Amino acid sequence: MTETILRIRNLRTYFFTRRGTVKAVDGIDFDLLKSKCLCLVGESGCGKTVTALSILGLIDSPPGRIVGGEIYYNNLNLLECPPDQLRRIRGKEIAMVFQDAQSALNPVFTIGNQIVEQVKLHLGATTREAKEKALSLLEEVGIPTPEKVANYYPHQLSGGMRQRAMIAMSLSCDPQILIADEPTTAVDVTVKAQILDIFNQLKNTRQMSLLFITHDLGIVSEIGDRILVMYGGRVAEAATVSGLLNNPKHPYTASLIRCLPDITQVKDRLETIPGTVPSLIDPPGGCLFHPRCDKALAICREETPPPFIVAEGHTVFCHLYSHLER
Ligand SMILES: Nc1ncnc2c1ncn2[C@@H]1O[C@H](COP(=O)(O)OP(=O)(O)O)[C@@H](O)[C@H]1O
Ligand SMILES: [Mg+2]
Repeated sequence: MTETILRIRNLRTYFFTRRGTVKAVDGIDFDLLKSKCLCLVGESGCGKTVTALSILGLIDSPPGRIVGGEIYYNNLNLLECPPDQLRRIRGKEIAMVFQDAQSALNPVFTIGNQIVEQVKLHLGATTREAKEKALSLLEEVGIPTPEKVANYYPHQLSGGMRQRAMIAMSLSCDPQILIADEPTTAVDVTVKAQILDIFNQLKNTRQMSLLFITHDLGIVSEIGDRILVMYGGRVAEAATVSGLLNNPKHPYTASLIRCLPDITQVKDRLETIPGTVPSLIDPPGGCLFHPRCDKALAICREETPPPFIVAEGHTVFCHLYSHLER
């Protein structure tokens, strides 16, 4: 059996603002397995980044706070760990790659220097060892001339190269888990494919676990093993990638799939899901998707949908299935 490396249970992260309480993440569960990739998917504002920041302990507080739930790294609940142990785990075992490499890299230091400093900090290496390590990391992420690129400043690199340099930097602590938050959003199609290749390679060669965040359902089949579709801070549906793409059960998942560009039959117009994402300050009662759902029943306005097990490893939160026995 594959080992679970990260186990999230009933995680709730709220922001207490003057306009009201934003329930950014409101009771989500998932398991990340060793050497596997879990994709978190959903429209902008559904709580993907807040989920990642909650895992890393990077929620701005105030106004934010993790108000409930458990985050287990192996068998340790990170939410109950002493602060120094937590810092060690979060700095060393779990790393994050952001969407915008430009702002995550320091403009006044060369790429090489930034990675060397990280390696020294995390692994306690000498400058000489750290330099060697930095070059091998740059090589690992597909930078063809690491010695040359190490001497460049971030602005001297193309977007794709900068993104690679950031991935190299995130690997400087040899993490067990890499969280990538929309790492391909700001790059073009060719670079996107190359970056996905790098992540796949890391998963296989380093047995690393990936939490891959994207609003682009079109790329999950390139990278993901499992997928979690989020809506309004909650889970709508969770399944294997093939299970979800071939047999979507939640009307929201189905409409996300309908919105994908179809390369076999060029559609006249790309569909979009009618309606807007719910306000997380004063969300609608019942199922959060009901105002946009063309299949909504009376109960959908009243009650939060319970989980329904579609098949082993495939769960949907939708009243359409509540009457089915299983
Ligand atoms: N610092 C903050 N203060 C108040 N609300 C926030 C803060 N950070 C995020 N939110 C809210 O939390 C919700 C989820 O945001 P986020 O996780 O960034 O969405 P996404 O899925 O696009 O990554 C949004 O409604 C956002 O406005
Ligand atoms: Mg985000």
